[in-house]
Amino acid sequence: MAELREAVIVDFVRTPFGRASKKRPGFFADVRSDDLGIAAVEALMKRTKVDPYAINDIIIGTPTQIAEQAQAARNITLGAGLPFEVTGLNVDRACGSSLAGAHIGIMAIQTGMADIIISGGIESLSHFPNPVITPETDVLALARDFAARGNPNPKMIARVDPDALMGMGITAENMADMFDISREDMDQWALRSNLRAAAAHKEGKLKHEIIPMEGKLPDGTVALVDYDQDVRPDSTIEKIRTLPPVYKPDGKVNAASSSKESDGGAAAMFMSRSKARELGLKPMATVRSIGWAGCDPKIMGYSAYLASKKALERAGLTAKQIDLWETNEAFAVVPLTLIKLFGIDPERMNVNGGACCIGHAVGASGIRMVGTLAHEMNRRGSRYGLASICGGMGQGTAILVEREDYWDGRAAFLGQ
Ligand SMILES: CC(C)(COP(=O)(O)OP(=O)(O)OC[C@H]1O[C@@H](n2cnc3c(N)ncnc32)[C@H](O)[C@@H]1OP(=O)(O)O)[C@@H](O)C(=O)NCCC(=O)NCCS
Repeated sequence: MAELREAVIVDFVRTPFGRASKKRPGFFADVRSDDLGIAAVEALMKRTKVDPYAINDIIIGTPTQIAEQAQAARNITLGAGLPFEVTGLNVDRACGSSLAGAHIGIMAIQTGMADIIISGGIESLSHFPNPVITPETDVLALARDFAARGNPNPKMIARVDPDALMGMGITAENMADMFDISREDMDQWALRSNLRAAAAHKEGKLKHEIIPMEGKLPDGTVALVDYDQDVRPDSTIEKIRTLPPVYKPDGKVNAASSSKESDGGAAAMFMSRSKARELGLKPMATVRSIGWAGCDPKIMGYSAYLASKKALERAGLTAKQIDLWETNEAFAVVPLTLIKLFGIDPERMNVNGGACCIGHAVGASGIRMVGTLAHEMNRRGSRYGLASICGGMGQGTAILVEREDYWDGRAAFLGQ
C-alpha cells in the first residue's frame, strides 16, 4: 500500500448553540437543524473560497436520523447550493457521530481516495429532546414509546442494564462512584466551565468559530446572535451547591454538572496537506492520529478516556506531551476522569469552557471538540492537541492533531 498522506484541518465553524428547553425555548427552537448545518457549510465555503466542485464529500453526523435529520448530509449539500456532483454521507456513532464522520474523511484523504472533505454535524434537541431517566423511569416502556426513533434489540437489553443504555445521567453517577469524583469537584468544574466560557465570549475568543445567526430572543424579537445561550456568567458555587441531584435521590450530578441540551450545527474542512499548499491555504493543524474505543455502557463517559489513549498510542505520544485537551462535558465527571487518569494539568483541559454551559448539540458536538481545539491551538501556538468525546452506549472517539509552522498562506478563519 502506498504511504499515507497527511490530512490537515483548514477551518472550522459552528452556529451559536441555542437552548433546547420546553420551559424556556431557545434561539433556534423553530429552526430546522439541517438549516443550522447549511449555515455552517455555507460559511465554510465562503471563508475557505474553495471551488465547490473540488469538495469530494460532505459527511454529517447525528444519532437522530429522523425527520429533518434524516438524509441530512445530502439535504445540506443541496441546500447549501453545492453542485449535484458533491455527495453526502450520514454517520451515527451516538454523541461521537461527527467526530466519527471526520475519521472517515481523514482516512479517505490519507489513503488518497479524496482531497477535500467537509465533515460536520447537526442536532435539534428542541425538536428531538432526550428523556431524563431516573431509577423510577420504566426504561423499557420508554424504549417502546421511542419506537419511531429506535427499537432496541431484546438480545442487547438482556446484556446491558437498560438504565445505562438510555440514562446518560445514571452513567455519570456510576463513573463518579467508580473514579471517586466528588460532587464538590463536579460543582466546581461546572462553575469553572461557565466562567471560562463567559470570559471567552467576552474576550472574543470564540469569534473565529461562531457564525452570527438570526435567533429568537426570549422576548420574541429576532436578532443576530453570536454566543451560546446557556452560558451563565453569573454562576456561583453557592447556587450550584444548592441544586438537587437530577438522576437519583442520593446522587451527585445536578443540572450544572450535566451538559445543556442544545440546538446547533458545525462543520470543519479537511484536506490533504498537498492540496492545502496548492490552494495557498494555511492549515490550522495536521491530524497525527485518530482513536475510537468501546466500554461498558454503564460508564459510557469512560470511552472518551479509552479513545484518547488509543489516539496517543497510535501517535507514539504520551499524555504529558499534549499541550491542550478538549473533551465533551457530557457531564463534568468526564473531563475530571481524564484529568485524573492521564494526570493532566487542569489548566490544559477545556480552557474556554465546555458542554456544561456551551451546550451539547449531540450530532454537532464531536466536530466542535477538534474545531474548538484547533482554533485555540492557533491562538496559543500550542504543538499537540487531543480532542475526544464519549458517546451513548459506551463509544468514544478522538483525534490527535499537531500545529506546526506552516508555509505562508491564507488562514481561512481570518479571511486573509
Ligand atoms: C440536567 C437537565 C435534566 C436539566 O434540565 P433543566 O431542569 O431544564 O435545566 P435548567 O437549565 O432549568 O436548570 C435547572 C436549575 O439549575 C440551575 N442551574 C443550571 N446550571 C447552573 C449554573 N451553572 N449555575 C447556577 N445555576 C444553574 C438553573 O438556573 C435552574 O434553576 P432554577 O430552577 O432555580 O431556575 C438537562 O440539562 C439534561 O438532561 N442534561 C443532560 C443531557 C444529556 O444527558 N445529554 C447526553 C449526554 S451523553
